[in-house]
Amino acid sequence: MEVVIVPQAAAGGELIAEAMAQLLRRKPDALLGVATGSTPLPIYQALTAKVRSGAVDISEARIAQLDEYVGLPADHPESYRSVLRREVLEPLGIGMDAFLGPDGTAEDIQAACEAYDRALAEAGGVDLQLLGIGTDGHIGFNEPCSSLASRTRIKTLTEQTRIDNARFFDGDIEQVPHHVITQGIGTILEARHLVLLATGEGKADAVAATVEGPVAAVCPASALQLHPHATVIVDEAAASKL
Ligand code: GLP
Repeated sequence: MEVVIVPQAAAGGELIAEAMAQLLRRKPDALLGVATGSTPLPIYQALTAKVRSGAVDISEARIAQLDEYVGLPADHPESYRSVLRREVLEPLGIGMDAFLGPDGTAEDIQAACEAYDRALAEAGGVDLQLLGIGTDGHIGFNEPCSSLASRTRIKTLTEQTRIDNARFFDGDIEQVPHHVITQGIGTILEARHLVLLATGEGKADAVAATVEGPVAAVCPASALQLHPHATVIVDEAAASKL
């Protein structure tokens, strides 16, 4: 695992956007796994700037979703599909035909999860997977004690994650769904390159457990230690407990 400490979030965003641009120059139809949350926004802004300046051509790129709420209609503004459309696809000029994501409204959620794992494999696998990290060390929505070999499946959110995510639902925890679909940790580990960005002091404990702790299901992100090509980019605040 490579750990890079940057002075602030914007520098991390620029570094990762450049890694994505280099990948796209090498492989124009790369499958980019993207994450939601506040942390990756500087990455998307930096990548959008590169695309608009002509520094990279993203017209053949494909985008894959990491996780999704169960039960929110796809056009709900906080479904992750909507969030990604707004924050990633539209700014980058990528159409929904180049987008892969699980169906959080399916009647048979288990079948939808299996179908998504199959779709990722049939698409050739994720080339670069962006990850954020929860304050409890979760990646995607793999909460602590998720199996390190898990596949895409339904999970129940912890109270802490619902509290953390209530800010996207007018601060009202009652509106935050209890259930989610997430790529499993085993699924995530199949991506060719994992890039985790963590910023701010609130992530310092989770980052320390990820980088210096044992590989253990209590800290799902520690599974990155098992990956042959994992990069963890942290600002000084998130690195403060390393
Ligand atoms: C959610 C998402 C994760 C994300 C995490 C942290 O739980 N499912 O993919 O990493 O939030 O979000 P933020 O970057 O806003 O702290």
